[in-house]
Amino acid sequence: MPDVLQHDVVIVGGGGAGLRAAIAAVEADPTLDVAIVSKVYPMRSHTVSAEGGAAGVIKAGDSLEEHIRDTISGSDWLADQDAVELFVREAPQELLRLEHWGCPWSREPDGTVAVRPFGGMGIERTWFAADKTGFHMLHTLFQTSLQHERVRRYDEWFATRLLLDDGRAVGVSAIELRSGQVRAVVGKAVILATGGFGRIFPFTTNAAIKTGDGLGLAFRAGVPLKDMEFVQYHPTGLPGTGILITEAARGEGGILVNRHGDRYLRHYNLGEPLDIRDPVHPRLRTMELGPRDRLSQAFMKEQDQGNVFDGPYGTYVHLDIRHLGERRVDQKIPFVRELATNYAGIDPVREPIPVRPVVHYMMGGIDTNLEAETALPGLYAAGECACVSINGANRLGSNSLPELLVFGARAGTGAARWAREHAPAPRAAVETQAADEQARIARDLINRRDGDERIATLRTEMQHAMEAGCGIYRTEATLQAAAAKVAELRERARRVQLDDHSLSFNTELTAALELDIMIEIAESVVHSALHRTESRGSHQRVDFPQRDDGRFLKHSLAYRTEGAPRVEYRDVAITRWPPAERVYGRAH
Ligand code: FUM
Repeated sequence: MPDVLQHDVVIVGGGGAGLRAAIAAVEADPTLDVAIVSKVYPMRSHTVSAEGGAAGVIKAGDSLEEHIRDTISGSDWLADQDAVELFVREAPQELLRLEHWGCPWSREPDGTVAVRPFGGMGIERTWFAADKTGFHMLHTLFQTSLQHERVRRYDEWFATRLLLDDGRAVGVSAIELRSGQVRAVVGKAVILATGGFGRIFPFTTNAAIKTGDGLGLAFRAGVPLKDMEFVQYHPTGLPGTGILITEAARGEGGILVNRHGDRYLRHYNLGEPLDIRDPVHPRLRTMELGPRDRLSQAFMKEQDQGNVFDGPYGTYVHLDIRHLGERRVDQKIPFVRELATNYAGIDPVREPIPVRPVVHYMMGGIDTNLEAETALPGLYAAGECACVSINGANRLGSNSLPELLVFGARAGTGAARWAREHAPAPRAAVETQAADEQARIARDLINRRDGDERIATLRTEMQHAMEAGCGIYRTEATLQAAAAKVAELRERARRVQLDDHSLSFNTELTAALELDIMIEIAESVVHSALHRTESRGSHQRVDFPQRDDGRFLKHSLAYRTEGAPRVEYRDVAITRWPPAERVYGRAH
């Protein structure tokens, strides 16, 4: 029988949300024993790669009301307004808490916290630590977690199944990657904080680890996935690698131009080509700081009109920051210079940077309420893997870092409360499930000799089907083609053959388990997109170009079945901000 490791709270994922949850849980009750099970060492989780910053109202002249309004409008009215209000209220407190824990926020010369403009935000409210904000936040959370002896880490353990008892979540079975042994990591509450799943697409800013593992655990245990059709493309990734060139480059004044040298965004109702620092128009959004969905769609239209460059890694436009000058670039966005130099072979102080839209963030995720609770008792989720929802149909840049703090903390506090009030599951119940999982992995993957499918082939086919069928623009036909392909891949994945039959650090085994999850998640994305016959935010149906509030001011909920996911709907929480047109580029 697999070993059983007993704790009070089990957190899956050691990135920003997971670490914040762990700290909140032990602060809520220092007697609790908290486990973090993470596929990678915490400082290698994807939070580290966040660049531009974290939104929170702090600047004189800004208000909670305006942050709420920007977020709701940016979401194309699909965000739950009670969730947005709560988030906006708690975000500055969380960012200040991080400051007290040592996060080196960039400063103005007078010592106040510096904030920069960001896409879709009507005023400067994005806190930053140069352009390595995620690195500094993650470092701060990690070092703070180290102060708590009752936080026990299982680094490089891969959780593959949620353990259940009497209708509640009581832990995970996980592979210790070093030994290949399956073990049961058991608690009275479980928090999923595994990040997003950009890797279901071929071209993404997301690290290779972002394969949606937590969503797979929840989905397979019967928890619905919410708003999965909403896939965010970031307008400025490097062609080829997909490496993120932060929106901060545009926040600092960078501009986008097409191959004719035209600042093309002026043709797309995104405002005037104003300088954001123009004192006469301090509250106007410049067009380069429009929301990501609109900027990515504008790129596609420019591409259709033949206005983009063609290169060895596809089409692109130019992000020009030369006018900012070397000193400012090195002070505010040094990482942009480093990345462009190393990965595009150009120095952006002297040449424009080639960029194109790239899959960056998933608005959808595990359905949770304001307390980060899922429909499964004892199971919580926070961060990108969850959908509260504050992001609706399009997230505003810099809202995700404070989101993982606010809801990570809530998940930790809630799970601590739950753990205090509940008894541990009987050992036999978890042992049996972990043994079943061990047997499944051995039989279907490690010991199989008669498989005839390759992981890389299936993964590549899935990624290309998703891009072709479920990209920036979709139609019934492209979605149906993607649905058929992904269903075929689900069958073929049952016959996958590994070459590596060993146990220690079997990365081929990890890739096979990840692929299985990604295919299931991809199906939920495609079917949620098929059912939503309207266009809203990042979900643009060429065959249904209008937003349809009458039928679709609703969250989609995808449930796992033996076949294609079943899609149901739930009303969006509208409190004080009735649906309206999204308007950019005008003072408000
Ligand atoms: O462009 C960026 O720095 C990305 C920020 C975000 O996704 O919030």
